[in-house]
Amino acid sequence: NFAKFLIFKLPATTCMTLQGKSCLKCISHKCGKEYPIPVFEFNCTCGNLLDVKYNDTPSQNLKEVFYQRRNPQGSIFNESGVWRFRELLNFCEIDTEDLTQCSQHLVSLDGAEGRQSKPYHMSKVAKFVGIENEKLMLQPEGYNPSGSFKDNGMSAAVTHAKLVGAKKIICASTGNTSASAGMFAANENMECDVYIPEGEIAPGKLSQAYQFGTQMIHVNGNFDDAFTKSLTAAKESGSYTVNSINPFRIEGQKTIPYRLLEFLEWKTPDWIVYPGGALGNTSSCGKCLMELYEWGWIKKIPRIAVINAEGANTLDVLYNGKFEDTELRWNDGSPNTELIERYYTKMNDDGIRPKTKATAIQIGKPSNLLKGIRALEYTDGIVISVTDKEMLDGMSVVGLNGFDCEMASGAVPAGIKKLLHENIMKKDDEIVGILTGRQKEPLLPIDYHNEPTNQFARPPKR
Ligand code: F0G
Repeated sequence: NFAKFLIFKLPATTCMTLQGKSCLKCISHKCGKEYPIPVFEFNCTCGNLLDVKYNDTPSQNLKEVFYQRRNPQGSIFNESGVWRFRELLNFCEIDTEDLTQCSQHLVSLDGAEGRQSKPYHMSKVAKFVGIENEKLMLQPEGYNPSGSFKDNGMSAAVTHAKLVGAKKIICASTGNTSASAGMFAANENMECDVYIPEGEIAPGKLSQAYQFGTQMIHVNGNFDDAFTKSLTAAKESGSYTVNSINPFRIEGQKTIPYRLLEFLEWKTPDWIVYPGGALGNTSSCGKCLMELYEWGWIKKIPRIAVINAEGANTLDVLYNGKFEDTELRWNDGSPNTELIERYYTKMNDDGIRPKTKATAIQIGKPSNLLKGIRALEYTDGIVISVTDKEMLDGMSVVGLNGFDCEMASGAVPAGIKKLLHENIMKKDDEIVGILTGRQKEPLLPIDYHNEPTNQFARPPKR
């Protein structure tokens, strides 16, 4: 079935005649330069990141269309939890009801991306964080085909890669991005190079990348070093970057909040909670909420809470004024970028390297920092950090509800617990947390449960 769709691939040139219903636009208010959709340079000439912008306001009747597509009627694009919402990320400017056009353009793993994701109540997590069960929902994104939320964004990014006729995609990764990129590249017959911080990623993620036929490039350094190298390599070889600086990744990841909002009948919760790494998710959720509010689809804006690992807490430090007593803010499009530069220089000078067992979020220089603080400003968001031990407890209590998640996702229950304890979140608030990825580091739970002093440990008997 899927092979059939590949036959209909259009040559890239056919796609260059977009109708101008969308464009790329620099996020800086001072600059605001616009670019056509079919480019693959994701930085403005002024150095800032780009957003996808749409000219039209989508009709609210689409809420009913999306709901009806949950009976997919044989279409993988209705089955897909990403492309079910295709009108809201129609940067290919196709006729979204024309399934031939969908097949020609939209990249899908046979409808599997986002298909299984929706929010659930998890009573043991609610008890752990200290709130009534009906007030808390968690949305596992680990049941995506490659085992993490990345598939939401990757299906959209690889769709754009196809649109511009890219032959090779490239990324740096703490593991999940490489697994997702490798999976989609394999399906689309594209080459895929992945830059990996050697020895710093979960074996389960590494093995996926090998399995999907990626070319691994080991970098002696951390994720930030690998990312810099991958960008240089992409520029030199004309390859297509699929890290979250890619604005189409951000578009695809908007479907994470779409699915949770749809589940809540488009009534917004008080909080949406994410672990914070490169801040792609934070940026994407912020953009999603800005658009929905602007279109009149939602009446209230939920607050975003980002949970950093204590050992990789750049956002926490900068946002909460822990460096130079200055709180970094989006500041209506004029953020204090010198503050960021000074902090990065200090990190280099003092040898501050991100360090956490939650390797997925072991990131010192979040590449979406500015989009992230824009999302936080728009949503009156907050940022805190949690320890490795707190994340492991969070991960483990999710398991006791019959769901599994990885340690970085354990930051979400851990962070909610802390925020409730500090009375920043209130007992009658409605909270939705995103469990970003599935367990791919088998030794972590084994070690956790073999240590009897851990809160949820159940050590083996002899
Ligand atoms: N959770 C998991 C499971 C992740 O893999 C990542 C990022 C994050 C959270 C952080 O998300 O970057 O949107 O703030 N992993 C990337 C990777 C960096 O390479 O797989 P973010």
